[in-house]
Amino acid sequence: MKVLVIGGGAREHALCRSLSLDPDVTALYCAPGNAGIAEVAELRAVDALDGAAVAALATELGAELVIVGPEAPLVAGVADAVRAAGIPCFGPSGEAAQLEGSKAFAKDVMAGAGVPTARSYVCTTPEEVEEALDAFGAPYVVKDDGLAAGKGVVVTDDLEAARAHANACDRVVIEEFLDGPEVSLFAITDGTTVVPLQPAQDFKRALDGDEGPNTGGMGAYSPLPWADPKLVEEVMETVLQPTVDELRRRGTPFSGLLYAGLAITSRGVRVIEFNARFGDPETQVVLARLKTPLAGVLLASANGTLADLEPLRWSENAAVTVVVASHNYPDTPRTGDPITGLDEVAAQDAPHAYVLHAGTRHEGGAVVSAGGRVLSVTAIGSGLTEARERAYAAVARIGLDGSQHRTDIAAKAAAEA
Ligand code: AMP
Ligand code: GLY
Repeated sequence: MKVLVIGGGAREHALCRSLSLDPDVTALYCAPGNAGIAEVAELRAVDALDGAAVAALATELGAELVIVGPEAPLVAGVADAVRAAGIPCFGPSGEAAQLEGSKAFAKDVMAGAGVPTARSYVCTTPEEVEEALDAFGAPYVVKDDGLAAGKGVVVTDDLEAARAHANACDRVVIEEFLDGPEVSLFAITDGTTVVPLQPAQDFKRALDGDEGPNTGGMGAYSPLPWADPKLVEEVMETVLQPTVDELRRRGTPFSGLLYAGLAITSRGVRVIEFNARFGDPETQVVLARLKTPLAGVLLASANGTLADLEPLRWSENAAVTVVVASHNYPDTPRTGDPITGLDEVAAQDAPHAYVLHAGTRHEGGAVVSAGGRVLSVTAIGSGLTEARERAYAAVARIGLDGSQHRTDIAAKAAAEA
């Protein structure tokens, strides 16, 4: 099978790595990719937001499966354009991707499907904002309605800060604060059948101890030793299947990856958000544990044949990923700094630990930083403790001036396991 992956972050590197290990994949292309993905896939240049250009590239390459990684092209309808060219595509239509593209749409779908989530108001005027903030009280949760790369959400006890964020957005969702640990559960669906993956936990805040601003994600681990063994089953019944059924009922069937961001509250599981694509950095740890070859699973979603798929097989290993971010991430990340130590990790830590590239590119003979999140160092081990040790040993070999990473990824879960 010839496969084309659209995107160029650590998620796409993780996808390409798994696809490159899949014996069914005869040719692997990635557009636009990055310096790390170039080691496992042939890179092509494309404007990922241009559906016609992506479809033309897929046709030219003879791709038999296109995987659209990031949310922006999905919301822009790139998967629709690829399917219109007669090529199977993993990823939802532009309409269905509104589940991620608009928080207000997601709330409406959840209400229709009876899916448990935080109570919320959609506000467009300062008066509505005041009323909603007052109704819920602190801590305030204020979300930009549109796509904001995980950075449109402000959770704060400070009324002024909540008000300022709300009034800076055209349309905001203000909602009830959900207490309790967060879990990311991904499911692959063809619009009817839903196949859950293994749960993971993401670390959204920039600094140790969950301090600092929200980011796209600073690290992740899987499995979750502290979670109820029935969690996946429960989320399937109360969240994933009803949401997929509701979207089909509305005439906007959702196929691709349905990402449920969940809070495990004292009153039960609540949806914090949906995404319409693999999460980053959770994908890095989930795919590190998936033993079933990936291409066939994603093709079954694209072709609507998930009901015939064999049950997924999972490794008993634990996986941890630690994100190395550039100086000043998430505010105004500095780019263009050389990255060292990549060969040392490949020589000394592989195959248990490896580097997945996020924002990197080649400059001269060197690999340099090209984004906020630069690398995602991923490791597997017999338990979280070993996976953590291996991940951090590899992180220690990476040199990137001014870079930052959290030192407490999976620490609490490993200590309690
Ligand atoms: P989102 O982009 O909706 O995932 O929000 C980013 C992060 O903000 C989440 O991962 C949570 O840590 C936090 N957050 C969002 N909504 C809530 C809520 N209702 N209660 C508490 N924290 C929230
Ligand atoms: N890990 C958070 C996200 O992918 O949105």
